[in-house]
Amino acid sequence: MTEQRVLIGVIGGSGLYHLDNLTFVKKVHPETPWGYPSSPIVISSLPTGTQVAFIARHGTGHEISPSAVPSRANIAALKSLGVRAILAFSAVGSLREEISPGSFVLPNQIIDRTKGIRPCSFFEGTSVVAHTTFGDPFSSGFLTWLEPRINKALEGRDTKLFTDKCLVVMEGPQFSTRAESKMYRQWGGDLINMSTLPEAKLAREAELSYAVVATATDYDSWRPHDAAVTAADVFKTLKTNADTSRLVAEAILDELNATINDPDNGKLFLDEVGKMKFSIM
Ligand code: ADE
Repeated sequence: MTEQRVLIGVIGGSGLYHLDNLTFVKKVHPETPWGYPSSPIVISSLPTGTQVAFIARHGTGHEISPSAVPSRANIAALKSLGVRAILAFSAVGSLREEISPGSFVLPNQIIDRTKGIRPCSFFEGTSVVAHTTFGDPFSSGFLTWLEPRINKALEGRDTKLFTDKCLVVMEGPQFSTRAESKMYRQWGGDLINMSTLPEAKLAREAELSYAVVATATDYDSWRPHDAAVTAADVFKTLKTNADTSRLVAEAILDELNATINDPDNGKLFLDEVGKMKFSIM
């Protein structure tokens, strides 16, 4: 029997520490030049044989704060396994009334408020000067592919999917002030989290397709008559969002695997990635 290739990486965010209904294949925890990934990588398979590599971004017991996530090790480890596309999940605060807690969002833009704070390039400390194309920070082909399939997976549920939204990635661990939260809205931000960067930048440098399914847990702190966001607000919605995320993953992984594997369709996922000039691993 030929060994199945692992083409899909899933990175679980707060509340999402494993996937459901998969058969365990093996656990690996490779040391990369950037250290160990956040958690051992669990490789498991669907009944069809499709294999998926799963990393818990904040560790399996949520012991890694957003600023300390070893994103370079996470992306490098997935790349070393042969992964070609990463489906990331992340809890986010909402900066828009219509994106209520419990909503799912496929953002297509990012405002970076972590710049200069987190190591964000594989080329740092090397003699390679590389300027990666990042105008569209998520793989547009992947986003286009995901939208109808996530909508289908959510049919009959009380969860709405939004697309074309702008995600502000801030430095934590404290939440924003009310003034900051209102400013991000004026800037055009629709969502806010602490963990999609540098992950998305590193995926691009590693020439991997990358998209994030953002799951709204709270309204952040911009609503004048509401109390400012607390960790308890976030936790309230985490479990339901994680359950729905598992359902979405289960519904799409097989077709995703087949699409990546298809020599014609697979190219869809390599749109921005194809503009990269450097191969690093
Ligand atoms: N993650 C979930 N909710 C958040 C918020 N309001 N701000 C930053 N990160 C978050």
